[in-house]
Amino acid sequence: MHNPKDIKNFSEKSVEPLRFDVSGNLIRKFGRESISNKNVAILELIKNSYDAKSAKIEIDFSSVNTKEGMIAVSDNGDGMDYSDLKNKWMRIANPFKSKKLKNGDRAFIGEKGIGRLSAESLAKSATLFSLPKGKDTGYKVIFDWDKYQEENALVNDVDNPTFEFNKKKADQGIRLEMKNLNHDWNTQESQESLLVDINLINSINKPVRDFKVITKFEPSLATVPKIKKEFLEKAVYSLKTKLTGGSLIRYEFLSINGKKKEGNLQATRKLKCGDAVFELYFFYKSPKYFEQATGKKMATTESKEINKTLEHYSGIKLYRDNFRVKPYGDPNSDWIGLDIAAHNNSMLPRNDALIGMVHISKSKNPAIVDTTTREGVIYTDEFQDLIAFVLVSIQKVFSDLRSEFESHKTKARKNKTKKSNKPIPVNVPGSGVKIAVTTPTVLVEIGGKYPENFYNQLQDEINVCYDHNHPNAAFFLCRKMVENLVFNILEKKFPSQINLWYDQKYKIRHKFSILIKNLYDERSNFGKPNVKTYIEKFNTEVGLFRKEANTKAHNVFEYLGDKKELNKFKIKDLVQLLVKIHDNI
Ligand SMILES: Nc1ncnc2c1ncn2[C@@H]1O[C@H](COP(=O)(O)OP(=O)(O)OP(=O)(O)O)[C@@H](O)[C@H]1O
Ligand SMILES: [Mg+2]
Repeated sequence: MHNPKDIKNFSEKSVEPLRFDVSGNLIRKFGRESISNKNVAILELIKNSYDAKSAKIEIDFSSVNTKEGMIAVSDNGDGMDYSDLKNKWMRIANPFKSKKLKNGDRAFIGEKGIGRLSAESLAKSATLFSLPKGKDTGYKVIFDWDKYQEENALVNDVDNPTFEFNKKKADQGIRLEMKNLNHDWNTQESQESLLVDINLINSINKPVRDFKVITKFEPSLATVPKIKKEFLEKAVYSLKTKLTGGSLIRYEFLSINGKKKEGNLQATRKLKCGDAVFELYFFYKSPKYFEQATGKKMATTESKEINKTLEHYSGIKLYRDNFRVKPYGDPNSDWIGLDIAAHNNSMLPRNDALIGMVHISKSKNPAIVDTTTREGVIYTDEFQDLIAFVLVSIQKVFSDLRSEFESHKTKARKNKTKKSNKPIPVNVPGSGVKIAVTTPTVLVEIGGKYPENFYNQLQDEINVCYDHNHPNAAFFLCRKMVENLVFNILEKKFPSQINLWYDQKYKIRHKFSILIKNLYDERSNFGKPNVKTYIEKFNTEVGLFRKEANTKAHNVFEYLGDKKELNKFKIKDLVQLLVKIHDNI
């Protein structure tokens, strides 16, 4: 046998060139296996109608409960003629929209060429009626998705019966009837959550011009209150920050009493994300706190409305070109880390008391891109810096101005600071200098190499708690740091193996102990022997910390009496090991 090294000595002649074939299973891979969230699947179809310049799209759920079970989606957009059907609808992963950013005055939302396979995700069959604008012929195509699953079926082999029919030139758009549904939609929970997602598809205070989503749902199942932009006027405080050029942050802070503060901040380092806008509307849910803060009374009906609306619509949502990117801001998706931070600083708002929006555009933030699952974006440095921008806006602007506006709380804070008699290190955005007047004893050192601004802030908070002898708060924040580091490592190393770091069923990150186990199980797949050793060492050393962290996180009564007790968990070593692992990816 020849050695492959002698390849040039083979005598060769040309034969039929080989081509890739694609198994029919690809349809399922891009369909239900990739767009697995049923709400996301419906939202994809809405985005397609927007891209096709529809003024109106109707989502009809009135037949979901029939024997056959059907969801019908109809729009009045441009539709597709035979050549569009052949070259666009029938061509998978054709990124033609991404080549053009604009479609008339609309920015294209689609880019990957797979969103319409939501139809496969939602039902066993689909019938597409297409009425191309200005033409007198329309088309009907029938898809039976199971045919693609037959043994040895190739994508190209499956015939999808196609028909043409006469139509009026003025009729335009598409209708997609999906039958034999894959999900149970007949519950209050599923129809309400979809309705909320539809109501939030565009930012509530920026309704899209000439685009209406009409829903035909079972009224007894979908009883969610609608949210209008006027609701935001009930916010006790609202903040708008605007990031330009990576470092200049302009802010405007308003209270319900009409007091206003505006200004500029200069970030101490250039953020890698493009221009972005953040809006935050903060509400007091209880009339008592509302009155304390504003001096005004709140009627019970008002407080009920606020509570009910926030129950469905609270959280910080991400919008790209004014279309929502899920799951950011969904219940259980605390992507900014606010809820844990709020434990430690009473001036920080919790997710359930606010409505927030982060606005970016594809043109200014080309590096923030969706994952194929349409649930979330790829965790790039740019995205991490977008989170840093939102965090700085909340921690440095919102919480400072809120405490300035709420004198009774400011007093309490001042007294507290006096008692501990030690200045708190603060990152002063205007001067570019980090001021730490005394050198505190530190519990963790994340090291400057780590890219996330978020960790530096967390580190400062941990060390302040430690230095001021709040061992429980320090412990709690350490858990957050260790958990996030393990999560980031898995996500960075295995971006497409979502199951390692994300629980797809419950749509949340994996629990702490599962993350640690997955890191350990994957230790040989990091490619570098020293990383494997670090992971093994980490796994041994984390034992006690994991055990205590799990019980303490769930039991507020259990506490550490002394900061010396923290030393036994070797937190500094754990963090150092994780940083080394991260730096070696
Ligand atoms: N409602 C519609 N009206 C007209 N054409 C449509 C409609 N829905 C889909 N199409 C056509 O089918 C193509 C495929 O849609 P699909 O959603 O799969 O991809 P995309 O929108 O280009 O990208 P993405 O995967 O990011 O959504 C579209 O590019 C468009 O040409
Ligand atoms: Mg699309």
